[in-house]
Amino acid sequence: MNNKKKIAIFASGSGTNFEALAQACADGRLNADVVLMVCDKPGAKVIERAERFGVESFVFSPKSYPSKADFETEIVQMLRDHQVDLICLAGYMRLVGDTLLAAYRGKIINIHPSLLPAFKGAHAVEDAVAYGVKVFGITIHYVDETLDGGKIIAQRAFPYDGNDPDEVHRIGQKIEHELYVDTVCKLLDF
Ligand code: GAR
Repeated sequence: MNNKKKIAIFASGSGTNFEALAQACADGRLNADVVLMVCDKPGAKVIERAERFGVESFVFSPKSYPSKADFETEIVQMLRDHQVDLICLAGYMRLVGDTLLAAYRGKIINIHPSLLPAFKGAHAVEDAVAYGVKVFGITIHYVDETLDGGKIIAQRAFPYDGNDPDEVHRIGQKIEHELYVDTVCKLLDF
């Protein structure tokens, strides 16, 4: 019997975190299967990555639904059909709404490129560099109805004394991939 946990990954962009998690499942470093990728940006690079890993995708355009509740109702049905245990947001640049939270609260986690609660939002690294921050970091947290809010699960910090956001992104990305795999591994090991 397959006792592996089932993960869904939500993304809007490149999907390097998707790939890190999918690769860890493929290698057996994570005792889980990525069973669904949900993407709200048709054309995003993460869709090709999902195809390459043979992961089913649900790609939708939010504008073509009357409301967030309508597309989240469809997503919840799909998550149930796939018996998903854990939802990993990986660059899903959209607030999770009541419909999804009502069904999966406590089972949705997010990764964010700052030491939360500092520097929430879509430009966390650029904002932190502009502020003159010297210690940067990555946070993984449970998702609630607020932007990059919810209880923190894991953080990793790194020093950087410069003014190049691209370099911070490069350093942070490598840490994100390791921290996401390690954290999911710990969360699923119950
Ligand atoms: C990651 O850096 C993640 O921390 C960030 O989006 C990027 C997605 O990269 N998420 C947020 O800023 C959430 N507020 P990826 O598509 O290569 O995984």
